[in-house]
Amino acid sequence: MGLQFITAEEAAQFINHDDNVAFSGFTPAGSPKAVPTALAARARKEHEQGREFKIGMFTGASTGDSLDGELARANAIKFRTPYQSNKDLKALINCGQTEYYDMHLSQIAQEMRYKFLGEVDVAIIEAADVTESGEIVVTSAVGISPTAARLAKKVIIELNENHPKDIKGLHDIYELQDPPHRREVPVFSVDDRCGGPVVKIDPAKIVGVVKTNRPDEVGGFAPLDEVTSKIGENVAKFLASQIKNGVIPPEFLPIQSGVGNIANAVLGALGSNDDIPPFTMYTEVIQDAVIELMRNEKITFVSGCSLTVSPEVLQSIYKDLYFFKPRMVLRPQELSNNPEVVRRLGLISINTAIEVDLFGNVNSTHVMGTTMMNGIGGSGDFTRNSFMSIFTCPSIAKDGAISTIVPLVSHLDHSEHSVKVVITEQGIADLRGKSPNQRAEAIIENCVHPDYKDILREYITLCGKKQHTPHTLASAYNMHAEFLKSKDMRNTTWEMCKKDK
Ligand code: COA
Repeated sequence: MGLQFITAEEAAQFINHDDNVAFSGFTPAGSPKAVPTALAARARKEHEQGREFKIGMFTGASTGDSLDGELARANAIKFRTPYQSNKDLKALINCGQTEYYDMHLSQIAQEMRYKFLGEVDVAIIEAADVTESGEIVVTSAVGISPTAARLAKKVIIELNENHPKDIKGLHDIYELQDPPHRREVPVFSVDDRCGGPVVKIDPAKIVGVVKTNRPDEVGGFAPLDEVTSKIGENVAKFLASQIKNGVIPPEFLPIQSGVGNIANAVLGALGSNDDIPPFTMYTEVIQDAVIELMRNEKITFVSGCSLTVSPEVLQSIYKDLYFFKPRMVLRPQELSNNPEVVRRLGLISINTAIEVDLFGNVNSTHVMGTTMMNGIGGSGDFTRNSFMSIFTCPSIAKDGAISTIVPLVSHLDHSEHSVKVVITEQGIADLRGKSPNQRAEAIIENCVHPDYKDILREYITLCGKKQHTPHTLASAYNMHAEFLKSKDMRNTTWEMCKKDK
């Protein structure tokens, strides 16, 4: 029997209340759009008729508004993993209406295979092409699609004409074996391929194909400002100095760069620094700045999981596939973020922190320790395993009312053991080979905003240098408590700390 072409509304009927649904894509790139919108409409109708309708959701990472946004606004999400950034979904997560498990992105596919997360009832996969024999060409991202489509009992394909069929060959589709039979991942250099071009499944599981023509819902970046530009320059300056002193080999090492405005600025600065040679990337998200640097031949090859670029840039890549295909590969996230490969290739990882403490512990996920921002994403996969892990952040947030450098992080994602360098617009703190007291000094003197230097110096002085890690536990969160009380950390005092002494 051939493929059944159906409408998005018909496809939504294959999904039941309480089902676990896995989605293709990674960021808005490659995420399904039409079926989730129809599913949200269905959920609203069920709710109006007094029936429950909520699904569990496995995705690659964040998705587009027609997926996370529509389903959140329809209150149709029971649980969600592994990463999100949609404001309506975040609101549900932060008021406890949706259960959210934050996970390392390299781990979700294997945890689905290990059955840690329950069955996959339905997979909805965006495709550029699909054959009657069950071969699927995924689109601008790979994410968890190979595992999701293989494990799901039913598969719905969104055949999106916005992505040309001839992107076949851009992807490297490979699934890890499960223990005790797992072998080494055969990627020994950034441009090695170890899998095939398509996701292959039993065609009998494909319950319908929905034709669409919708662009990825990727948003733009804020223009560079003084702070993000300075952070970018500091990163480039630091890496150039590491080449000069022989720590980084002259041919350089592959770069992993996180997501967002700072990451964009960092890539721009690496591109324009003449002391940084042309380089490769082994990363998760490929964003606009990477494409520009590829056209300028400053980036010679990029391995990633998604093409999270603006719709215009994506179409320009599709027009130039003869240029990009030999220089780019999109892989499943268990490969793009694979700890074994990250350590083997010796990546320089560059990610953004929400807050950093005086000892180099990093919080990437929780505002004031309680409110979920997005999730750990791939930052843990890369940070723990890279050749050199760098964290960047502006030294202050909220017009100076918050210092991003605090005595103790209010939530821990990356420990002091994994974080090697901290860079703000103020400067660079190289933490390698330093004790906690030495790290505190390096961070205060190089990275802290002038408004907060004396406050943090006083904390360390009051704690005294007779402890291995200087702290006064009753006061370690004074700066956070002050922000919650007066909305300005600059009012922090250490009275309690003095009493404790
Ligand atoms: N306390 C409270 N709020 C803070 C803060 C702090 N210490 N630091 C930043 N913020 C606020 C900012 O003011 C901003 O608020 P606004 O949206 O109201 O303006 C918001 O947090 C986000 O800051 P922004 O400048 O937009 O940051 P970004 O786009 O560079 O993203 C992270 C920063 C940390 C949220 C983002 O990098 C992330 O999700 N990281 C975790 C996952 C990851 O690293 N992935 C990459 C691996 S490949």
